[in-house]
Amino acid sequence: MEYFETNVPPPIPEDFGTQARVELCNKVLTDWTQTPPGDDPYLKNYAAAMLQFHNTAGPIYDTTVAVLTARPDMGASHLKTLEQRAMQKQIIALMGEDYPAALGDTEADVHKWLDAIASVRADPERFDEWIYDIHNQELQTNVPYRGDCLEAFLSMANDLGRLTTGNIVEFGCSQNLILKRHARKLAMGADAPMEHYGPNDTDVPLPHIIRDGGLHLQATAANHQLIRQPVPFGYGVGIDSKSPAAGRDWSYNSVYPSEFANKARMTDVHDLIYSDYSNNVGFYQADVTDFDLASFHESFPQMRNATDVVFICTSAYLLPPEKRQGVFDLGIEMVKGETPETNGFLILYDNCMRVAMDPTQVNFFSDWQSVPYCYHFYVMDTRAPEPIWEEFYMSPDTRANTVRVGNGAILDKNGTPHKVWDYMMDMAVDLSYLKK
Ligand SMILES: C[S@@+](CC[C@H](N)C(=O)[O-])C[C@H]1O[C@@H](n2cnc3c(N)ncnc32)[C@H](O)[C@@H]1O
Repeated sequence: MEYFETNVPPPIPEDFGTQARVELCNKVLTDWTQTPPGDDPYLKNYAAAMLQFHNTAGPIYDTTVAVLTARPDMGASHLKTLEQRAMQKQIIALMGEDYPAALGDTEADVHKWLDAIASVRADPERFDEWIYDIHNQELQTNVPYRGDCLEAFLSMANDLGRLTTGNIVEFGCSQNLILKRHARKLAMGADAPMEHYGPNDTDVPLPHIIRDGGLHLQATAANHQLIRQPVPFGYGVGIDSKSPAAGRDWSYNSVYPSEFANKARMTDVHDLIYSDYSNNVGFYQADVTDFDLASFHESFPQMRNATDVVFICTSAYLLPPEKRQGVFDLGIEMVKGETPETNGFLILYDNCMRVAMDPTQVNFFSDWQSVPYCYHFYVMDTRAPEPIWEEFYMSPDTRANTVRVGNGAILDKNGTPHKVWDYMMDMAVDLSYLKK
């Protein structure tokens, strides 16, 4: 079937900035056809099909140009991911449970993805909604397993005498899954499962710690132990500019195609999204770039000078670059304690890299999906005399199924630094459950 009205190259926008960004968008899709996010084979096929629409004059190409013109803050990976989520929502509405398996994940199946995208394009209401979503929705991933690094970090901080209240704030919490999962784990105690679903079944539970070119069993087991260990939990507040209730269905569909095919994972995400808040998890709707801290403390007085951790998880990359430092300063303000000893931690878990010459700064990338090991878990320990972004963990992508341990350290309650890797190597761990 021929979907393209013409083979004439698309018109080049006059503004060079937009044109360069359109080219970067095509590069993102081309990269996905080789190394798709999360190694998802369905995304390879989606990208191969979408690229054909992008390289041809027509409303899909026009939408990219229009969005890039309307949203100068939006980077290429951001737009292409949002566009994929919005298209997936429409294809799921057409295909239901058959998605994505019926579209296939081999090269010979690309034509089925072309047909599916063409069906959406041919339906005026579906296509309108696709455009509406790209203009109006936020990229709202819901990856509760991103909480694993936070859980491990909290255990270490607790063992080192650095948790005072167990109060946590998350910026850009989407459906608040990370805090809800934290509350669920602590409520379940020793029965809490290690549920971290990867793309493939693996003998060793995820996440895996990689070192010296392979799976490091001792570090993996130590990390699992830290993830499972209970810690004191006072109160958790998730902050987001969108209300969770408004975006539940959008959020539920906002996953990679192969994640959608993983029924156990989707059930778990669904249960967390639709679960009621526990007694000690709350939500506050606000834009963190324009935040009134006094009003926040009026709503949650227990957090004033008593917040151990502000967690900025996979949301800073969505902010306009010139607003990011202000958001980090807000986080630092929130974790200030009554005394320097009770100062807490600002954690940034995102597609960014610390600046080697100035480790108080981080760089973000427009096409982060092409930057290897770009997903970093940085901790700023505000008790330190000169806090820097300490590198704790890094992963090849935002699913963090495999993790490398960085060079970072935190201070214990006496002010002595502990490197995360040394700390893990000193732990006594049981390896028997890792053996087949
Ligand atoms: C990609 S999701 C991440 C969700 C969750 N933290 C996770 O890692 O799974 C990013 C979230 O940041 C929110 N967000 C973006 N800009 C924001 C802002 N200026 N203020 C508050 N929330 C914002 C979005 O609405 C979205 O829910």
